[in-house]
Amino acid sequence: MKMNTIELPPPVPDESESLRQYRKLLEKREAEAAKAARSLPDSLPLVLEIGCGHGHFLTSVAEKDPSRYYVGIDVAQGRIQRARRKTTLRDIPNLEFHLADARLFLSFLKPKQCSQIFVLFPDPFPKEKQKKHRLMQGEFLQTCHRILNTDGYLFFRTDVFDYFQEVLAWMEQNRDLFEPVSSEIWPAAETTVFENRAQKVHSQVFRRK
Ligand SMILES: C[S@@+](CC[C@H](N)C(=O)[O-])C[C@H]1O[C@@H](n2cnc3c(N)ncnc32)[C@H](O)[C@@H]1O
Repeated sequence: MKMNTIELPPPVPDESESLRQYRKLLEKREAEAAKAARSLPDSLPLVLEIGCGHGHFLTSVAEKDPSRYYVGIDVAQGRIQRARRKTTLRDIPNLEFHLADARLFLSFLKPKQCSQIFVLFPDPFPKEKQKKHRLMQGEFLQTCHRILNTDGYLFFRTDVFDYFQEVLAWMEQNRDLFEPVSSEIWPAAETTVFENRAQKVHSQVFRRK
């Protein structure tokens, strides 16, 4: 006698399965960040751009300055893909881009490994309830201090005045870590994509003590 066979739909992953996959992806990203951070060359002073977007700024700066090694980091995959295309097309050997959460990537760097860090127009999180997600806050700024060499520079630029004031206030309370210095030493005239859209910009350079 012929048995009726029932076509079953493919199994729908239950919550624990999607969680497992998510954890696996996080572990993969973490391993990639660790590998990339640990394999950076130490023959040239290291310059980081955190939240580099499509890499416009860093690409033009790196192309003009072969005396330093430039690394751009961003969490957005599409942006990093576009940034990497620029390095390949223009053949810039002292530049690389990595897909990573900057906080994770920086945790794999050695103390005093960097000479400069740029944070240009970080996500503003303007609403009161969201401000806790801003990048330029205590733990991140302490990490910047750990990885910058003595007399290294942190370059910060934003179009959000209260974010700017918040960072200045943190720096004022942590004068043993950083001191504000004249923005005249800003090393590059290149602007970023967000800078081109901004009405007013606020910049400050901090020297690591
Ligand atoms: C407002 S955009 C500015 C992009 C670029 N700096 C500019 O000025 O045109 C902020 C960028 O920071 C990235 N970003 C936000 N949080 C980040 C994090 N924790 N680690 C790395 N990148 C981050 C976003 O994906 C985005 O590309």
